[in-house]
Amino acid sequence: MRNPVIGWEQEQPVPHHSFNDYLHAREGRLYYEELDLAQLFVGGREDQGLGRTLPSPLEIIYLPKIREKIARMRQLFADVSAEVGYAGRFHYAYASKANAAEEVLRTALEVGAHYEMSSAVDVEIARLMLAAGKLSPEQLVICNGFKDVGSVYAAQIIQLKREEHDNVIPVVEDRGELAPLIASGLDFEMGLRQKCYGPHRGQAEMDEADSRFGMDVETIWQAAQEIERAPHLTLKLYHAMVGSQIVDADDFLTWLEIPIEIYARLRQQHPTLTIFDFGGGMPVPMTLNFAFDYRSFVRRLLVLLQEACQRYAVPVPDVLGEFGRYTTAEHGAHLFKIVTVKENNSVLPWYLINGSIMTSFPDSWALSEHFIVLPLTHLDKPFRRVRLGGMTCDSDDIYPPKGSSAPLYLPVETEDLYVGFFGIGAYQEMLGGVGGSKHCVLPEANELLVDRDTEGRYQFRILRGQMYTDVLRNLGYWGYQEL
Ligand SMILES: Cc1ncc(COP(=O)(O)O)c(C=O)c1O
Repeated sequence: MRNPVIGWEQEQPVPHHSFNDYLHAREGRLYYEELDLAQLFVGGREDQGLGRTLPSPLEIIYLPKIREKIARMRQLFADVSAEVGYAGRFHYAYASKANAAEEVLRTALEVGAHYEMSSAVDVEIARLMLAAGKLSPEQLVICNGFKDVGSVYAAQIIQLKREEHDNVIPVVEDRGELAPLIASGLDFEMGLRQKCYGPHRGQAEMDEADSRFGMDVETIWQAAQEIERAPHLTLKLYHAMVGSQIVDADDFLTWLEIPIEIYARLRQQHPTLTIFDFGGGMPVPMTLNFAFDYRSFVRRLLVLLQEACQRYAVPVPDVLGEFGRYTTAEHGAHLFKIVTVKENNSVLPWYLINGSIMTSFPDSWALSEHFIVLPLTHLDKPFRRVRLGGMTCDSDDIYPPKGSSAPLYLPVETEDLYVGFFGIGAYQEMLGGVGGSKHCVLPEANELLVDRDTEGRYQFRILRGQMYTDVLRNLGYWGYQEL
């Protein structure tokens, strides 16, 4: 397999270039769409309205990207549905586990995305969004995750439905989860989660897969019957998530084929079932050589659904996707300054950043995941091959990750050299923890929230990161709160 392309791979300067659809070099400075990123630290582009320079490191949260991604996927489903004559609707849900920050969830909900959640705290977030008028009665709240008998989550879901939001669909992972929902006496529309996560060919392989999610085929049928018998429950949704960041469309569709068949068979017996939910999995470009044909994927998915439903003489379902990574990966960037260059008799020079790679992007060391890294300044000067090192004392705090042979080139000129990690908006912050105390007690960076008004003018908000006092308070230096 080809190395992931994580940045510029040559020694030649690259003053003008489009690296992908949102990162561009112009006159030696890096732009995120039209926003000049160099200005954040070295000034210039006063016309963009920031009015000051900012300290590094800095996180960027670019909200228009979230709206754009949602709009693009909806348009794609609309276009392809028209093309293949697909009679069902498409529902876009945001899987908030990818990034549960208020501004992210609010932005997705404001454009009408449904809310896919996974825990009791998410229910509190739904309440806050309802109170703020961001979640309307038409928007679905899809409750995935484990909600066993007696759990706070199960109780919270019931309370949400009873008191605040009718459009709640609990998706059952296990038959045992049905009892509290039946006992509630509320008219729940229900979802059932198929056990189908990971590679499989054939139902036997799927049923026997080593996964704790969902129910095997036999148990799905039993759960559907139990729902049928329960006076207040109706089966509405069938959930079949086969993986995350599935870059091969053939794999994605092959793994969905059996669940699609099971959907059609279930639909014959349970006419209230109208939604096929393929969960997450939609891949995103985390590197520069990503290639995934979304249009062809959507087309093949809808045709598979049409064919299966025709075989079983049932209507095609509405299609729902729970887009986590797809919604948020690209809206986030993390910017650092190169503070020291150290040769240290190493194979490549070390460029040290004023932050930590491993705590900011845990997937880079835990899973050897790659992200895009580009300089914000000096793109018009020669480059050389380097490695990045973080400020912690950990030997894994490096990039490219250990074992990677992806080349990273950065400018030779290191005076006022700033670099950005891109495509890091999904999962990295949630896995690293927000507001906690991290490796080598490095504080969290400030955040710059970027939005654009209807005239295209930038709107900036600067959110304070951690002070050393926040870090020390977390660690008990000002005493603990006792239970
Ligand atoms: C049930 C469920 N839905 C949706 C998602 C989001 O997946 P992705 O980030 O691949 O879109 C996840 C992620 O783990 C999940 O567990």
